[in-house]
Amino acid sequence: MQAHFYLADEAQQVALGGHLAQTLQEGVIYLEGDLGAGKTTFTRGLIRALGHQGAVKSPTYTLVEPYVFDQQTVYHFDLYRLADPEELEMIGIRDYFDEGSLCLIEWPQKGEGFLPPPDLRLNFSLADQEGRDLQVEALSDLGRKALQQLLQAGNSLN
Ligand SMILES: Nc1ncnc2c1ncn2[C@@H]1O[C@H](COP(=O)(O)OP(=O)(O)O)[C@@H](O)[C@H]1O
Ligand SMILES: [Mg+2]
Repeated sequence: MQAHFYLADEAQQVALGGHLAQTLQEGVIYLEGDLGAGKTTFTRGLIRALGHQGAVKSPTYTLVEPYVFDQQTVYHFDLYRLADPEELEMIGIRDYFDEGSLCLIEWPQKGEGFLPPPDLRLNFSLADQEGRDLQVEALSDLGRKALQQLLQAGNSLN
């Protein structure tokens, strides 16, 4: 199952991330798209919607940033600088996916072979004029359920 969203500005990017926080509490989300496509902005919207009030930055040098909430834990990965996917074994990557957490992974292609398959794949790109295009692919029952709810929420964005 696939769907397309148009996010006219940063506020909409943040808002849709917030909606996803309501529809998916655990699982694996791949965030694809070039530098500047809006992956971290979307993630910030999701994490802020759960109640985090501080900054949300791409953990480019630390690879992963945890956000612990009462009801759930979110791990935000950025694998952009990962030279060798085997490094993921060294940081004990499996443990992050084993505990009912929600994992958001920027640059998942850099970790190929060491990551679980995603429930959702999000691909961001610059739109023709301004804003961002977002293509979402759901790859599990959990992902399809979330995408259906996200479509309903997304209709109220514009
Ligand atoms: N839907 C949008 N429309 C216009 N600008 C956006 C949108 N989403 C994000 N941006 C802007 O794009 C820039 C890069 O976003 P960022 O989330 O850091 O990208 P990435 O993590 O993919 O490298 C930021 O300045 C942000 O404000
Ligand atoms: Mg980023």
